[in-house]
Amino acid sequence: MKHSVTEPLGAAQSLKITDSEFRKASELVKSLAGIHLTDGKRELVSARLAKRLRTLGLATLNDYLDVVKEDKTQDELVMMLDALTTNLTSFWRESDHFDFVVEQVLPKLESRGTNEIRIWSAGCSTGEEPYGLAMLILGNLKNAQNAKLRILATDLSTRVLDTAKRAKYGEERVKNIPPDLRNKFVTKENGPHGAIYSINPNVRSAITFGRLNLMEPWPMKGPFDMIFCRNVMIYFDKPTQKQLVERFAGLLRSGGTLFVGHSESLAGVQHSFRYLRPTIYEKP
Ligand SMILES: C[S@@+](CC[C@H](N)C(=O)[O-])C[C@H]1O[C@@H](n2cnc3c(N)ncnc32)[C@H](O)[C@@H]1O
Repeated sequence: MKHSVTEPLGAAQSLKITDSEFRKASELVKSLAGIHLTDGKRELVSARLAKRLRTLGLATLNDYLDVVKEDKTQDELVMMLDALTTNLTSFWRESDHFDFVVEQVLPKLESRGTNEIRIWSAGCSTGEEPYGLAMLILGNLKNAQNAKLRILATDLSTRVLDTAKRAKYGEERVKNIPPDLRNKFVTKENGPHGAIYSINPNVRSAITFGRLNLMEPWPMKGPFDMIFCRNVMIYFDKPTQKQLVERFAGLLRSGGTLFVGHSESLAGVQHSFRYLRPTIYEKP
């Protein structure tokens, strides 16, 4: 690896980014993770990556991009994306989607007569989305005892997946879970730093967490009844969104539902889905 011979970035120094470095950074995150860095993000890139460069003892963004490219584990890519994007999530986020599942999707699945339900939470972050869905479904299905609920929950970031797999959350986070479901599926434990809330085993066992970069080939087979890809596509440009949405269509069963984030309407993206409601789409 060739690094520059200049001094590593000092504690008080800001990271200066040249035009060509910014172009290279944009091309790299676009090609590896689909993420579209607009020119307005330059300040953010500089502010967020300066600390990482200092930690690694590097001097320039060019040096850092070499490290990212050469790291076959993609751990450094994850660090970089964690710095440039947000993993923000919460239980019952955009809760009208959860209402729609109970009011519209579950009755349809129950009338189908099979007890198998398959869901993919694509870009699951720290796990609140898939755990919430499992509680919602196990708490609302008429025949939950016999249900075979399988939720695949994937993310690019190993850091958020580690938190998700721990299945333990603080009091502030679990407050968003409706009380009846919280009482049924979450257990309060006393930890060394106060109360901690642990997701019960019957909810945990419905979920398989795995690392998956949405831009790479997908190893799993469909069909899924529902796919949630919420607040992930905001970082992708329209052609990347179109490609992704068509790949989702390929994994959904006919009549299956795609949920996207509230700021991610598919307006302007060509697709084969039937529009049901803002941010909710059905595979014909
Ligand atoms: C803001 S969180 C959304 C979490 C949850 N879906 C929600 O709506 O609350 C976005 C997540 O997308 C993940 N992500 C971004 N680019 C990705 C990619 N190319 N492949 C897989 N996950 C990606 C990030 O790591 C992050 O955890």
